[in-house]
Formats: sequence, structure tokens, C-alpha cells
Amino acid sequence: MKTILKSLFGKIALIFLIQILALSAVQMYLSLTCTFDYYYEKDQKLHAKTAAALARMIEERVKAGCSLTTITNDTQNLTLLNPDAHIYIVDQTGRILQTLTDASEIKRKKIDVQPILEFIAAKDQNLKEAVFIDNPLDPDGKVIFSASPLHLDDQYAYLLITYNVPLNTLSLQSIMDSGVLQNTALAAMLAVMFSLFAGFLVFFFLNKRLQIMRNVVNFFKNGKYDARIPITSRDEIGELGVAFNNMASAFETYLRDLERNDRMRREFIANISHDLRSPLASTRGYVETLMIKDEKLSQKERKKFLQIIHKNVVHLSELVSELFELAKFDAKQIEPAIEPFSIAELAQDIVLKFQPQSESLNINLISRFPKNLPLVMGDIGMIERAISNLIQNALKFSGKGATVNLELLKAENHVIVKIADNGPGIPVEDLPYVFERFYRVDKSRNRKSGGSGLGLAIVKKIVEAHGQKISVKCNPGSETVFSFTLPVWKKDLSQPRNKIKQTISSPEKS
Ligand SMILES: Nc1ncnc2c1ncn2[C@@H]1O[C@H](COP(=O)(O)OP(=O)(O)O)[C@@H](O)[C@H]1O
Ligand SMILES: [Mg+2]
Repeated sequence: MKTILKSLFGKIALIFLIQILALSAVQMYLSLTCTFDYYYEKDQKLHAKTAAALARMIEERVKAGCSLTTITNDTQNLTLLNPDAHIYIVDQTGRILQTLTDASEIKRKKIDVQPILEFIAAKDQNLKEAVFIDNPLDPDGKVIFSASPLHLDDQYAYLLITYNVPLNTLSLQSIMDSGVLQNTALAAMLAVMFSLFAGFLVFFFLNKRLQIMRNVVNFFKNGKYDARIPITSRDEIGELGVAFNNMASAFETYLRDLERNDRMRREFIANISHDLRSPLASTRGYVETLMIKDEKLSQKERKKFLQIIHKNVVHLSELVSELFELAKFDAKQIEPAIEPFSIAELAQDIVLKFQPQSESLNINLISRFPKNLPLVMGDIGMIERAISNLIQNALKFSGKGATVNLELLKAENHVIVKIADNGPGIPVEDLPYVFERFYRVDKSRNRKSGGSGLGLAIVKKIVEAHGQKISVKCNPGSETVFSFTLPVWKKDLSQPRNKIKQTISSPEKS
């Protein structure tokens, strides 16, 4: 019982039960009192005009010379018709002057006349509700009555007929015995039972839904982060479920991001260690050989060793400066110095720079752009670095005989920079990750087929620092296209061209 009362269901059910019982009690009480009132009112209305009729008769007979006692005795026949009726003649102060009732039965000599006045004052004795008067037969009781002014020779009095149905004779028992009331009670009981049943049914389903919610929350707490509350209706509980589901989804995404970031951080450290250790170990080996064997080495061997050492050192310093650059981007220490420049000129310069390399690789490096290309806004040094990185990749990964195409296109407010090659491409499953640090399609980290895997991460940082986006598309076997946009410079006469220096903060989250 205690545990039931602890539950919301138990509490609501108890409150509901108490409420229903209280309401039924009030309803029973009201219907009982109404029934009493109705009886009295009906009875009084039935006899309302009797006193007046009788008074007129008495007055006439008094006028005819009959004594009051004779008249009263004669009226006994009347009371035989209704044994509950008692006739009194009362003076204006309420004193009982005359009655047929046994003197021994009379318990009061005087009664309050106020109700009589009230009764007489009511037009046609049309009373709104029953009026009671002191019952001369009962020192504490009250009865309904009929009354009328009575003009006797020498005095003004009242004729009072009480209908001795004292309040307590309409006992609960008599009411209970009445068929109407029994039916009312039955109806009330049925109503109580029906509302209890309906209430319990509502609570049962409510409780069931809350139970489902509690189970889902417990699942979630125990690590089942994809657990969601089934939404069957959009009421308050449904809304709560929707709110929980939204929170759970946000939490799940946040957790996955956290896990991914953690994994990436661990991979990052492992990759740095690997990429630093391999060239260092190799350099150390060659330096030690040079030191130990020194004289025994031929000139040719020594030159070869030194070339390897140089290559390792160059690679190491490139790797360190790339890491440093990324760290500065992360710490928001690098901000692009935005100014207008000709992207077409820059593209031509870059192509020229890579011409010897492309020729040696037997790769056809071409640039294509429309005439009158507008100036764009950006940090020219950074954009050069980004395009160079992309071309470097295209040359490195496309292979002999391929074509690398640097294309500039004019869009509404932007210039699109596209670097495409028709090399072997990037497998679809690797595409989403190529911009991640250290990510390389060739996982062996063999230096012949690639660098550190930081190039595209830097390109992405640069493009994002300009408030733009970079994308990659690849149909393996046909074309790999990297493209990003740059905003067109809008001529603003208030700003002389060479003074425009503006920074755009990176929207990137890392
Ligand atoms: N044009 C391309 N064609 C094929 N693969 C590419 C191309 N550009 C980039 N990749 C793949 O993306 C990886 C990441 O590129 P990047 O970050 O520049 O690293 P890195 O050049 O140092 O290997 C490369 O290792 C390569 O596998
Ligand atoms: Mg690269």
C-alpha cells in the first residue's frame, strides 16, 4: 500500500477517489435537503388557502352570534380529515387563545408570530419556500402551517393551522423508503462507479506511457544512446517525449563527436610519432655509419648518404612547419590579410611555377579561365599555398601521361577555383576523410606515394579562414576535382585598392 501511494499513479488515484466520494456525499446531502424542502413546500402550498377559508367561515359564524368555543368544536370534523392538522386561534402577540387540541399536549402557551406575518404578507400565499413556525406541541420543534387574519368582534387575531409533519418525521428512513430516492441513490452510485472506472482507465494508460518513458530513460542511462521514446500523441506527455528525444539526439551527436575527436587525437599523436621517428631513425643510422666508417666509405657512398640525410631533414622540417602552421590555424593565430587581387594572374604564375615539374612527370598541366575575370578578395599568399598544394597533389597522385587542369569560373558573386586531374582518383569510401590531418589513402605511409597527409588539412583551413568552403568530387577512373570559391571584389571608391586589408574569421570548428 505504501509503495502504491509513493507512485504518482497511487497519489492521483487516491485524490481522485476522495474527490469522487466527497462529491457524491455533497450530492447526496443536497438531494436529501432538496427533497425535504420540496416536501414541506409542496405540503404548505397544498394547504395554503385552508386557513383563510376557515377564518372567513368562523368570522361569519361569530357575526351570526355563535360562540368561539362552539365554532372551534365544530371544526373538529375538519381535523378528522387530516389528523396531522391542528387549529389554533392566536392573538397578535402569539398567545394561543383557543384550540381543539388537548391542553395536556400543548407545550407552549406562546409562539413567535413573525412567520405568520410573513405567510400572510406573501401574495396569494405564494411562498418561494416553506415557512416554519414554532410547533405548540413541541417545545423545540417547528412545523409548516397555514394562517390567516381573523377579525373577531373585539379583537384582531390569527387563525393558525399547523400541519404536524415535524422536521424529524421526514426521517432518513422514510426518505430511504421512497422509491424515487432509492433510484437517485442507485444512479449516483452508478455515476461514481463509472467515473471511478473511467478515471482508473485514464490513469492506467497515463501510467503506462510514463512507465515506457522511464524505461527509455533507464536504457539511455545504461549506455543505449539510440533509445528513443515512441511518440503516439502530441499532448503534454508526448511533448515531453519529443523534448527528451531531441535532447537524446543532441547528446548522442555530441558524444559521437567527442569519441571521434578523441580517436582522431590519438591517431594524430601516433601519426606524428611515426612520421617524426622514421626519418629521424634513418638520419641517425646514416650519420652513425658516416661517423664509424668515415674513411672506409667511397666518395660516391658518402654523397648518397648525405643526400638521404638531406632529404630526411627537408622532409622533417616540412613536416614540422606544416604542423606548426596547422597549430597556428587551430589557435586562430593566423588570420588572412584580405585584399583584392587578380586570381587569373595568380593562376598563371602557379602554372608556370609547376611547369618544369609537370614536364618532368610527363603530365599535361593547363590552366583555363575566361577573359575579364574580376578581382577576388583574399590573402594572396595563402591562396597561392592552397592552389599549389592542390596542384602538387594532382601531379603527385595522377601519374605519368595524365592531365591536370586549373580552371577558374565566374559565378554570381564568386570565382570558382577548380583543380581537376584524370588520374586514378580517390576511392569513394576515403573521400569524406581526405581533409583530415594525416589522412592518406595509402595507409602504409610510404613516403614515395605521398607526404605527411597534412596538405589538404591546411588547404581546408585556408579556405575556411576566408569564410568559404572546399569540396572534392571524384568518379574513380575519370576525374578528381577539388574546388573552392573566392568572393568577387566589389569596387568601393571609399577604399583605395592597396589599403584594403580586412580579416575574415574562420567559421571552422576544427
Ligand atoms: N588529386 C588526387 N588524386 C588522388 N588522390 C589524392 C589527390 N589529392 C589527394 N589525394 C589523397 O588524399 C590524401 C591526402 O592528401 P594530402 O593531405 O595532400 O596529403 P599528402 O599529399 O601529404 O599525402 C593523399 O595522401 C592522397 O591519398
Ligand atoms: Mg599533399
